Amino acid sequence: MNPTKRVLSGIRATGRLHLGNYLGAVKGMLALQADEQYQTLYMVADVHTITTPYDVEELRRNRREVIIDYLAVGLDPERSIIFQQSEVNQHLELAFYLSAVTTIGKMQHLPTFKDKVKQYPQHNTMALLNYPILMAADILLYKAGLVPVGKDQEPHLEAAREIARRMNQDYGTDFPEPVSFKTEGDYVPSLTGEGKMSKSVEGSYINLTDDLETIQHRLSAAPTDSGQGKVEVVGDDQKSRRFVDQSGAESEGVANLLSLVELFEGEDKRNKYEADYQGAGIRYGELKQDLAVAIYEQLEPIQQKRRELEADPGYVDRVIAEGADKARQIAVETVEEVRQKMGLRQWQ
Ligand code: ADP
Ligand code: TRP
Repeated sequence: MNPTKRVLSGIRATGRLHLGNYLGAVKGMLALQADEQYQTLYMVADVHTITTPYDVEELRRNRREVIIDYLAVGLDPERSIIFQQSEVNQHLELAFYLSAVTTIGKMQHLPTFKDKVKQYPQHNTMALLNYPILMAADILLYKAGLVPVGKDQEPHLEAAREIARRMNQDYGTDFPEPVSFKTEGDYVPSLTGEGKMSKSVEGSYINLTDDLETIQHRLSAAPTDSGQGKVEVVGDDQKSRRFVDQSGAESEGVANLLSLVELFEGEDKRNKYEADYQGAGIRYGELKQDLAVAIYEQLEPIQQKRRELEADPGYVDRVIAEGADKARQIAVETVEEVRQKMGLRQWQ
């Protein structure tokens, strides 16, 4: 098998998956799993979770919950290697070797690092600084060339490419330079009307486990405007929109809601609402009701599968154990090769 045809992705064990994770990352994981030319590896990034403040009991629960979410959305252990990062020690070992070609300055300047330091000023740790190196190790350990992740992960992939280049130059390894695999929903906006949907922002997300009532409730809190005004096309790709109502105020909340409409109800529905906005006006109550139903229809089969999995803990245990075994088989080979090339082993 051509190793550049390997795919790896991961999600931190910080809670239940939301629509952003699903559309931005999981849909890509599913698409690549279905494509025979790829060997797919999907992990729970539980070690990454300890880089920001966390609760030990919650982590213990969440690292398993994410595996259950993976299985519920259709990741299949017959086709993909599904595992927990911490079960494969080689991730940590390779991360240390990779840190030898990575400067502190480069890591300190990553926007993702700066954001997290701003968020947790008391927690400016070495683990946080090392986050992108560990992520590079996750990917390079399997020599994966393709990484299904959302747009926000681009700086980390850029760092991984640079690390791969340096390792190849300095030590003669053959790491591919990994690129992201994009999906249609690579940026799912927040329900608060600002920024992206995220687990760490209350009121911003809809979880895959939410029932119809909860989805309705969450959507009802999303900010709107008077429903009538001008729509301006913006952005290089001409795909973004600005909604300016009669009072002259721009509403990011409305732009976000219509992005969700497009993702769950299609482009035609979105176009219809845009025409309404510039004509008779949008009735947000109805829009939110229809959107809630459309979202729930996609989530219902996932929730059904989840209930089946929860009733069969032995199966989940087996998936976790077998996934780690399969991942380790590949991981030990890469680490052995790196040790030899870096002079930490005699050539056999
Ligand atoms: P969160 O920001 O909610 O904690 P993670 O950082 O664990 O989510 O992200 C896991 C995966 O989901 C990553 O690939 C990330 O790019 C993707 N992702 C997270 N939020 C979004 C979003 N709002 N839109 C698209 N993709 C997202
Ligand atoms: N940094 C990713 C996130 O916040 C999670 C992650 C860790 C990851 N290791 C990875 C994603 C390797 C892709 C590949 O979502």
